[in-house]
Amino acid sequence: MTTENIVEEYIRTHPRAQKLHERAKKVFAANGATHSARILEPFRPYITHAKGSRKWDIDGNEYIDYVLGHGTLILGHSHPDIVRAVQEQMAKGVHYGSGHELEIEWAELIKSMMPSIEKIEFFSCGQEANMMAVRLARVFTGRTKILRFEQNFHGWGDQLVAPGTLGIAADAVMIIPGHDLNIVEKELATKKYAILMTEGGGGHMGGQIPWDADFVRALPGLTKKYGTVWLLDEVVTGFRDSNGGWQSVIGVTPDLTTLGKTIGGGLGAGAVGGRTDIMDILKPKTPPQKYISHTGTWNANPLTAAAGVAACKLYIGGEVQRRANQVAADLRKKGNQVLKELNINGRLYGRSILHLHFGPIEYEPSDDTLPPTMDIQKLIGGLSLKMRLCLHLLQRGVSIMGPRQFILSAVHTEEDIDQTVKAFADSLDAMVAEGTLNRAT
Ligand SMILES: Cc1ncc(COP(=O)(O)O)c(C=O)c1O
Repeated sequence: MTTENIVEEYIRTHPRAQKLHERAKKVFAANGATHSARILEPFRPYITHAKGSRKWDIDGNEYIDYVLGHGTLILGHSHPDIVRAVQEQMAKGVHYGSGHELEIEWAELIKSMMPSIEKIEFFSCGQEANMMAVRLARVFTGRTKILRFEQNFHGWGDQLVAPGTLGIAADAVMIIPGHDLNIVEKELATKKYAILMTEGGGGHMGGQIPWDADFVRALPGLTKKYGTVWLLDEVVTGFRDSNGGWQSVIGVTPDLTTLGKTIGGGLGAGAVGGRTDIMDILKPKTPPQKYISHTGTWNANPLTAAAGVAACKLYIGGEVQRRANQVAADLRKKGNQVLKELNINGRLYGRSILHLHFGPIEYEPSDDTLPPTMDIQKLIGGLSLKMRLCLHLLQRGVSIMGPRQFILSAVHTEEDIDQTVKAFADSLDAMVAEGTLNRAT
């Protein structure tokens, strides 16, 4: 690597992407991007194709991909079973406006992996499933208020985004800090809450701010005591953490679970499932009996169902998840060794999605999936540093999610990991040399 500024070098090696970015800015309001996690200065690469753990851009650069469809592609890009299923279904029709066998098979596969799901309904994405979960809980309990935890993400819809977001009417939402059962119980005891929403694994992509499992284990009992529906949002963790979802890892049974990402095998999908008595609100009845109609043009369409069935068949044995967790552990171990050798305060932690923390190590967790501090502001901070690292990594052939997550799959190889570790070490070295990162004193 030369002493050329990383931004100049990136622009020089991505000339066609730069041209596309100029075009994109004329049509997309969000600085040319179509999702806030895809915004990067000066711009992200423009991808032409992808296969397995790799993707290639319009300028001929190759990347090891740790974005993986924002966490959907635990089987990697274009898994042959899914490609075959989708191609075959395409020729048979993509929308019948009627029932079909694949939607039943898809639901049965999901139910068989996640026993808390007695009944299920499909949607186009995860946040739609969360919106329905809120509605179901309101009708079921006769209450309106939503209890949520700080830094837990459930989508961008009105009652799902962070408080203070412009353009929302969030009167119905109460946000409380995680990790304090007294606060949870105090709120629940008011008996105003229809639903308590909890992100599987912890805040942000499977647990950038991890949960203490015992805290979460106490939530079903507390919500039951005060008549609130407990929702576990497993849009990220469902069928990623294990073939039973994160709920099977820590041994809890939510009233409702929402799913998304992996269940669609790479096509857009969401689902809400859980207790029959709650889900039965969707069963047609005559008013004033409790009934919500469920619409959505793309719900369980045959194309997505075909991809979903092919994917879920591969998730069932648990091998996919074991493999993703195993390569993630390899990257975590080797990446942390690099941080240690380069004398940089930081830590990679997490399970099949690794999160990067830059900052002092406040304690040495016995379990290396956990961060070295539980200070939330520190865990989510250092964004400009992480953005800089993201650019350095791209320049060395590694693409990460937003500026801070390495999302692993069952198809990342040992060679991918070793190449990534070298790119990580070289990037950190270069950042020290350019003065954007300091070594520990
Ligand atoms: C935990 C969680 N819930 C819900 C959502 C929303 O899912 P979707 O983007 O499919 O609507 C996301 C998206 O990243 C998520 O991370």
